[in-house]
Amino acid sequence: MSAKKIILVTGATAGIGKATALHLHAAGHRVIATGRNEKALAELRAAGLEAIALDVTSDVSIAAAKDEVDRLTSGHGLDVLVNNAGYGLFGPVEALSDADVRAQFDTNVFGLLAVTRAFVPAMRKRGAGRVINVSSVGGRMVFPLGGVYHATKFALEALTTALRMELRQFGIRVSVIEPGYIKTEFTATTMSLLRKYVSDESPYAAALQVGASADEAVARFAVGPESVARAIEHAATSRWPRARYVAPFYNAAGPWLMRLLPTWLTDWAFRRVSGLDGRPRLPAPASPAAALA
Ligand SMILES: NC(=O)c1ccc[n+]([C@@H]2O[C@H](COP(=O)([O-])OP(=O)(O)OC[C@H]3O[C@@H](n4cnc5c(N)ncnc54)[C@H](OP(=O)(O)O)[C@@H]3O)[C@@H](O)[C@H]2O)c1
Repeated sequence: MSAKKIILVTGATAGIGKATALHLHAAGHRVIATGRNEKALAELRAAGLEAIALDVTSDVSIAAAKDEVDRLTSGHGLDVLVNNAGYGLFGPVEALSDADVRAQFDTNVFGLLAVTRAFVPAMRKRGAGRVINVSSVGGRMVFPLGGVYHATKFALEALTTALRMELRQFGIRVSVIEPGYIKTEFTATTMSLLRKYVSDESPYAAALQVGASADEAVARFAVGPESVARAIEHAATSRWPRARYVAPFYNAAGPWLMRLLPTWLTDWAFRRVSGLDGRPRLPAPASPAAALA
């Protein structure tokens, strides 16, 4: 592969994907930014990137994007595929609707698989390529109310591990990126999806109250997406890409502690801070709905 690569990023219209696309473009790579938001795609074009529509949940959209990539690259295809598009559905596992759970898996798992299937064959034929999947530290540890989101990331970790071994023989390197808490649109999307489950009548009202106000409490630990963009750049360009990147690196402490500490202790601690220990919460805000208002 040449030093400058043809790199497609899914979900490049916001957050980590956008920061990564701009970072790789600034580093001189040929970046094909993709997403659903036409206005954001136009802004990326104005910044000098190539940008095309791609909804990872739509077979039609994936096929059209693949044709467009073939056209743009004169049949070469991608050197690097960055599977980044995703969002977080949070709420008690029992309470989440089947439709919402399926939609979460459609984007974070089945969408990623479909996009990978579309672009890997050209890499295999050339005997070179990279696939970089954006998972999460939450792909190796679980927070209460995050069961379904974490399940998608655990699935992604398993798929990435198998792909890494299966594709190596064809010259394709596969890496997983595990961000910690990063300042993006992610939390806003999560909170807007959580809103419909928040109710004073819910058996999980106390936990929902905590979850609905968790953003402020954890926001001070969040950092910008630059460290994730740099990790993706390393996975895309290094002669020796790693199997796994935690970004920023100190977030590796979370899964490490979970392995070290006894489960009864981590369960107790998470239940206690998450409003799942049966104790009534603070009187104000009076209701979880008020906390989200
Ligand atoms: N932020 C964090 O703390 C954090 C931590 C760990 C892992 N992650 C992972 O990082 C990735 C990026 O998240 P982010 O934090 O950058 O969130 P974000 O700011 O909300 O960006 C998510 C991007 O994914 C796109 N997307 C969602 N569904 C899509 C679909 N069906 N087709 C194409 N694009 C779609 C969004 O586009 P629209 O605007 O069209 O929805 C947006 O461009 C996700 O996989 C997430 O799970 C984030």
